[in-house]
Amino acid sequence: MKLKGKVAIVTGGGRNIGEEISKLFVSEGAKVAILDMDKARGDKVAAEIVAKGGEAAAFVVDVSKGADAERGVAEVTKRFGKIDILVNNVAISDNKTILECTEEDWDRVMNVTLKGPFLMGKYVAKQMIAQGTGGAMVNIASTSGFRGRPRAIAYISAKSGVINLTRGMAVQLAQYNIRVNSVSPNKAGSPVGRDEFNTDRPITNLLKRPVEPLDVAKAVLFLVSDDATFVMGENIFVDGGVMAVDIAS
Ligand SMILES: NC(=O)c1ccc[n+]([C@@H]2O[C@H](COP(=O)([O-])OP(=O)(O)OC[C@H]3O[C@@H](n4cnc5c(N)ncnc54)[C@H](O)[C@@H]3O)[C@@H](O)[C@H]2O)c1
Repeated sequence: MKLKGKVAIVTGGGRNIGEEISKLFVSEGAKVAILDMDKARGDKVAAEIVAKGGEAAAFVVDVSKGADAERGVAEVTKRFGKIDILVNNVAISDNKTILECTEEDWDRVMNVTLKGPFLMGKYVAKQMIAQGTGGAMVNIASTSGFRGRPRAIAYISAKSGVINLTRGMAVQLAQYNIRVNSVSPNKAGSPVGRDEFNTDRPITNLLKRPVEPLDVAKAVLFLVSDDATFVMGENIFVDGGVMAVDIAS
């Protein structure tokens, strides 16, 4: 068991990639706090984990709001006694071009996708520093943070921000023995913000299948575990080789 005795927060743990990360962490011995704005989703995943003998609890938190993030961190600490791991997994997308994206769309996507990880990182770091135990954080970024896309503008900008937020957090939290890294998936079967698996979604990677939530979860597990104690400020692509291809050649 790679996470025995650890307490982990997974934001957006109520479905898809966050759900898989939560369940994998529990199978490795962690207690998991699922922070999701959608109560039904968080409760469902927590109940499924508990039904199988694992330890988990759901907390209703909007990660884009500072007061909410701070309260969520306090509630998790009260419930589980400490926090060892944070996975910033929540994101929303605009799915719009620069010509269509409104100022409100831009602000909403930035607040959730970039400000959310900043707020959660800040309050969890304060708790870890108070504990004096160190810790590990992973921000879920995206290949979208490295490339232009035809139909997203705020999302790709926010994800670029997540990449460098990760480096800044790593630089500033190293002195407290808090490691921070990111994982960048490419298209999963279910696009961000959607429940259903989209079988028509074109797959352009080298492995010719969509990334599965478990592919992402395994990379996150590696980064928060003791297998990665010297990995810091790094980004791991879990993208089937998309970033390895020069589409112009
Ligand atoms: N799905 C993909 O194809 C894909 C590709 C690359 C990267 N990613 C990244 O992986 C991560 C997870 O993506 P997903 O597709 O599983 O997402 P999803 O939309 O399926 O799930 C996100 C969860 O976050 C919750 N949530 C949304 N806004 C919130 C808020 N403000 N506060 C708290 N909870 C909130 C939702 O209720 C939902 O349960 C994201 O960071 C995404 O950008 C996904």
